Amino acid sequence: MKIECSIPSWDCAGQPVFVRADLNVPLAHGTILNDRRLRGLQDTLNLLIQKQAIIILASHIGRPQAHEPELSTRILLAWFEKEGYAIQFCETIEQVKHKEKTAKAGSILLLENLRFFPGEKERDAAFIKTLRSLAKWYVNDAFGSLHRDDASLADLAVLFPPHNRSIGCLVEKELKMLNRFLHTAKKPVCAIIGGGKVADKLPLINNLLEISDYILLGPALVFTFDLAKQRSVGLSLVDQSAVNKARAILKKAELMNVSIVFPVDYQIALDSIDGPLSIVEPENFPENGIGISIGPKTVALFNEYITKSGSIFYNGMIGFSNRPKTLDGVKQLLTDVSHSNAMSIIAGGDSIAIADQLKLTGITYYSTGGGATLTYLSGKKLPGLEPFY
Ligand code: 3PG
Ligand code: MG
Repeated sequence: MKIECSIPSWDCAGQPVFVRADLNVPLAHGTILNDRRLRGLQDTLNLLIQKQAIIILASHIGRPQAHEPELSTRILLAWFEKEGYAIQFCETIEQVKHKEKTAKAGSILLLENLRFFPGEKERDAAFIKTLRSLAKWYVNDAFGSLHRDDASLADLAVLFPPHNRSIGCLVEKELKMLNRFLHTAKKPVCAIIGGGKVADKLPLINNLLEISDYILLGPALVFTFDLAKQRSVGLSLVDQSAVNKARAILKKAELMNVSIVFPVDYQIALDSIDGPLSIVEPENFPENGIGISIGPKTVALFNEYITKSGSIFYNGMIGFSNRPKTLDGVKQLLTDVSHSNAMSIIAGGDSIAIADQLKLTGITYYSTGGGATLTYLSGKKLPGLEPFY
């Protein structure tokens, strides 16, 4: 069913609108490495400002265990100010309540990192009610987080009357693009999947078998598949609890004639992720090796698949942004995707940051969602979207 952003029809002048966004930008030492998620929100913000609403802007950043100052949303203020927004920071919900009484129409109150409040992940009823009491209207424009069932995403929306809640412009745009990909993807379809969130991604890879012809696996999640094939992975990141699932996916792929393509060489670090780097073939994987990225032979092999694909979906960071020598593989892979004639989607904050650095011009669409995009394409429900159907 089609869902649309209904903000254009709202009469919300002078009234508080709660906007759940995904401002979880890639960061290094307090610097924003890529601002696509921030820019992606601007259509919604500008629309609400044009309507003279008071915007209560809320997001998570990272996965804080407690109050971690470097993950405060405060670090985003300078970006909004530079873009010309009138914005004030609120460390607590009480501060939002206090400031919204005097906030100017068309201005923004930015709440502290939602994950500093235990109720966000615990989906605590009192916390949800407190958030509800802040606003008359609710917007979910957190495309990159729609696959999460946190309080502000899955629980809060339904407490607003249907005509007072809406998806935002970014969510609408992303869904349109992904629907286009799903309905018009030219075959063969190639999915390139890397990154570390193994438990999240395995069920999705299982579903991707339905729409893909080739699935190219990269670090770190490929190591759980390597383990399923009884190959050595040294000290690489693996999810032992998912090995059987990985084995089942490989079996199903075989039955469905989907090629699952493994790297033929890895870039590894010895002893720790900061250790010396080298390239090894899977059969010579040392016991003290940690797989970080792919080697040149794998880049060449993957490019054979990229070149013959009609559509390509890329998700998951391969290598570490803060260690440039680990990024050669992902850079070449994204460049090859950009040079191909295929319709291409790159999804996920860190991979987009690399593609932007390289100024790649041949990518059809950059999606601000990683896990969310993968979830949508694999046909699973997005908890953050459910209240809007
Ligand atoms: C993301 O970057 O994938 C989203 O912001 C969700 O973050 P999470 O994986 O920490 O829930
Ligand atoms: Mg991410």
